[in-house]
Amino acid sequence: MKQFSLVPDIVLVETCREFVETLGIGAGDLIITSEHTYTAYFKDLVKGAEVVFIRKYGQGEPSDEMVEAIYRDIKDIQYNRVVAVGGGTIIDMAKLFALATVSPVVDLFDHVIPAVKAKELLILPTTCGTGSEVTNISILEIKARHTKMGLSVPELFADKAVLIPELLADLPFRFFATSSIDALVHAMESYLSPKASLISEVFSVQAIEMILSGYQKVVRGGEVVRKSLLNDFLIASTYAGIAFGNAGCGAVHAMSYPLGAVYHVPHGEANYVIFTGVFKTYLKLKPMGKIEKLNSLLTIILDCKQEQVYDELEKLLNQILQKKPLHEYGVSKEELRSFTESVMKKQGRLMANNYTELTKDMVFEIYNQLY
Ligand SMILES: [Fe+2]
Repeated sequence: MKQFSLVPDIVLVETCREFVETLGIGAGDLIITSEHTYTAYFKDLVKGAEVVFIRKYGQGEPSDEMVEAIYRDIKDIQYNRVVAVGGGTIIDMAKLFALATVSPVVDLFDHVIPAVKAKELLILPTTCGTGSEVTNISILEIKARHTKMGLSVPELFADKAVLIPELLADLPFRFFATSSIDALVHAMESYLSPKASLISEVFSVQAIEMILSGYQKVVRGGEVVRKSLLNDFLIASTYAGIAFGNAGCGAVHAMSYPLGAVYHVPHGEANYVIFTGVFKTYLKLKPMGKIEKLNSLLTIILDCKQEQVYDELEKLLNQILQKKPLHEYGVSKEELRSFTESVMKKQGRLMANNYTELTKDMVFEIYNQLY
């Protein structure tokens, strides 16, 4: 059996002003965002809302400690709606504040505390990558356990995913690149996932086409061209989110986690390091099958022969963001074993979505190739 769901309403507006006025954002709302975003887009428009600036609570990827610190500050505040405006870090944490009980957050992730939805949740992405506005997943680093954990329950779905291209206007090129590559990986991994359906595939294919043709335009016209493509990339990222929210991601995400956790490489960049290594291995292991359909699509978009698709893809991506080998992040050769162990032990949820089975030896081999 395969199932496809799309829970949040998707709201498309041009500007933050239109959003604030149409949805009456103000008293009774808890806005979770960055100081930069709030000052640039909302300060002059919003009156009476409670505002949480995420970086007051820590740097880097979202963690249980950051969630607990925010909780201590807001636990006595009354609010009816959570408005999350940001990238993955903000969205992953903000989703939890729409629940009746947030703390101890580790108990929530261990399913000791049930997830009960208590507030309306509005999510406004400011990057074109996570797709988190349409998924029901929150991923936190659990500091004491030195690992990342995911909570995936229907109660974490937003009520509204609000897409405003204006919010991406000052996204630096590097974040544009890493976040959109993350979206491309969501689209490609979910396309090959055994959980993919004919419906989720439509979203994957559309996202792949929009992102790669956008990259081709950026390569031809220069970095500034992305400014005219922000709406396309924002929509493509949401398409990819819908696809992976239903079909799941696989080995690229699984294998990128140790790099993110140990060396704090941002999520999109860590995925990029692993990306083509996994797909080239899939092709070697199981050239006949669904990957043929994916490669046919890539052949058309990249205007190349079937056997060249992953080299051509890498060439295109390298013009958007230069890929680095693992050792340049400080990873030692010896660590590749512990990375492999960690993937095999802790990432079974993702590894179950692989196009073809990747054994421990194969995972180790991919890390070695990317070293
Ligand atoms: Fe991702």
